[in-house]
Amino acid sequence: INRIAILTSGGDAPGMNAAIRSVILAAHHYHIDVIGFYHGFNGLICKENINQTKCLSLVDTSNIIQRGGTILKSARCPEMQTEQGLKQAAKTLNNNEIEALIVIGGDGSFNGLIELKNYWHGQLIGIPGTIDNDLDGTDFTIGFATAVNTAIEAIDKIRDTADAFERIFIVELMGRHSGHITFNVGIACGAEQVLSFENFSIDDKEAKLQQLADEINTAQENRHSSYIIVIAENLWPGGAMELAKELRQKANVDCTACVLGHIQRGGSPVPKDRLLATKMGVAAVQAIIEGEHCIMIAEQNNTMCHINLAEAVKHHKVVNQQLVEAQENILALTAQNQY
Ligand code: F6P
Repeated sequence: INRIAILTSGGDAPGMNAAIRSVILAAHHYHIDVIGFYHGFNGLICKENINQTKCLSLVDTSNIIQRGGTILKSARCPEMQTEQGLKQAAKTLNNNEIEALIVIGGDGSFNGLIELKNYWHGQLIGIPGTIDNDLDGTDFTIGFATAVNTAIEAIDKIRDTADAFERIFIVELMGRHSGHITFNVGIACGAEQVLSFENFSIDDKEAKLQQLADEINTAQENRHSSYIIVIAENLWPGGAMELAKELRQKANVDCTACVLGHIQRGGSPVPKDRLLATKMGVAAVQAIIEGEHCIMIAEQNNTMCHINLAEAVKHHKVVNQQLVEAQENILALTAQNQY
C-alpha cells in the first residue's frame, strides 16, 4: 500500500483530530502517504473553487490531539446518496491513486461508504466518530465521553441556579434517536427524571404529563428544592420547550427549558476519547495493511476488533440496562423520601 485517503464526515466529535493524528503517525511508520480530503465526502465530489485535498505529513500532527472539531472540516453530503455523486467520488479517488479510504464519522457516513463499495474497489475503513454512541459492535464511539462530560458540567451549573431559586428545569440533550448521552448524563447529574426512548413512548404522552406534574408537585411540597428533568432530543414533539409549555398550561407547573445543543459537540476531548481515537487510528492503518475491506474499527471489552460496516449501522445497540434500572430505582426511592 502506497497511498491512503482520510476524511471526517457528518457531525463532528471531539477526538476526531486525535484519530487523524494517529492515522498519519501510523501510516508514516509504514511508509504510506496520507491524503486528507476536506469537508467530508464533499471533498471527493470536487465542488469547484475549493481546495479539497492536502498531503498530510508529520507537521500536521502537531498540537491537534487536544483540539475539538476537525482539521479536515466536516459536512453532510446528500450527493453520496446519488449514483452521480458516488461515481464522482470513485473517480476522484482513482485520479488521486488512492488505495484505501478511511472515514471518521457516524452511521450516515458509513452508509455512504457502503454505497461507495459498489463503485470503487479500494479498501473502505470506518472509524466510529460521533457523540451519539449509536454504532453497533463498539462499546464506545469517539466523542461520546467528552459530550457526556460537557453536558454534565453544564447541568451542574444549571443545578446551582435551579437550587438557588428552587426551580424546575427541563434540559434537552443530543443523541439523535438514541438515549446513550441522556441516560449517562442524567444519572451522573442526579437528575430527578430521565426521559428517553428507552423508558418512554410517545403514546403515553398525556399520562406522562400528569405523572410528571404530580411527581414535581410532591417533590416541591416535600423538599422545596430544585428539580431537573433531562430529556433526549427528538423524543417529545416540539422538544424541551414544548414540554415546558405543556406542563405550564396543563398542570400549572412552572418550569424553564434549556436546550444544550451543539455545545455538546465541541471542546477539548477528554483522555478517554484521545486514547480511544489513538488506538483506533493505528488499528485502521493496520487493518488496511492486513487487506481488510468494508469494516469499522471497534473496541469491545478493551480489545480492538473489526465489525462489518453493514452490521455497524443497524441501530441495535441499546443503552446499558443497568443504567435504565438504576434510574427507575432512584426515582422510586426519592419519591418515598421526604428530605
Ligand atoms: O450526530 C451528532 C449530532 O450532534 C446529533 O446528536 C444531532 O441530532 C445532530 O448531530 C445535529 O446535527 P446538525 O449539527 O446537522 O444539526
